[in-house]
Amino acid sequence: MSHSHEKVEKNVGLMAILIAVAVSFGGIAEIVPLMFQAEAIKPLPGVKPYPPLELAGREIYIREGCYNCHSQMVRTLRFETERYGHYSLAGESVYDRPFQWGSKRTGPDLARVGGRYSDDWHRVHLINPRDLVPESNMPGFPWLAENKVDGALVRSKMQALKTLGDPYSQADIDGAVDAVADKTELDALVAYLQGLGKHAPRGG
Ligand code: HEC
Repeated sequence: MSHSHEKVEKNVGLMAILIAVAVSFGGIAEIVPLMFQAEAIKPLPGVKPYPPLELAGREIYIREGCYNCHSQMVRTLRFETERYGHYSLAGESVYDRPFQWGSKRTGPDLARVGGRYSDDWHRVHLINPRDLVPESNMPGFPWLAENKVDGALVRSKMQALKTLGDPYSQADIDGAVDAVADKTELDALVAYLQGLGKHAPRGG
């Protein structure tokens, strides 16, 4: 026994291979169960693929880099749940591709911001945050009020998501262009923000 161990200790190549094997066992034991769990994650009751206007808003959220300052992930810690509401659940973000959990919080977490303010509050705030929160260092996004949502783009995005398995019906997709007709990017972003956390369980 001691003899074979000596062999391993004196042979760097063999030792490296055996270390790699030992480490990968650890990795497999951690990762494989997660893969099966991920398959089993079901949407929470009421969680549906984003309607066209909210989907457009989500794209704008990503384009404008809101995630650089805002997370969308309430952690399971008391000081978080007291401030924001129920901690985030995997079943809330099954239709988020890619998810916007993030970790950078220059501003507050937004996972539960839906319904906290009025649409008008968001409009004013997004155009110039300092009109409402004088000490805010969030940039303004005034061009969102000028730009119209591109309906054809929303439609093809929904089509692509359907290919990936999101349960959009053909009627949903056909209605997309009309659903966002004449809407500005600001309308879309506000609709998206107002939908955040809508299906979260109540309470801390
Ligand atoms: C440079 C960092 C930064 C960026 C980029 C940024 N924000 Fe903010 N945001 C903040 C800060 C700081 C606050 C807190 C002060 C305030 O309310 O303005 C805030 C507050 C907010 C609030 C109010 C949250 C609450 O619970 O009171 C919302 C909603 C919001 N931001 C949305 C957005 C959206 C949407 C974008 C992208 C279009 C964005 N932010 C981009 C820093 C940022």
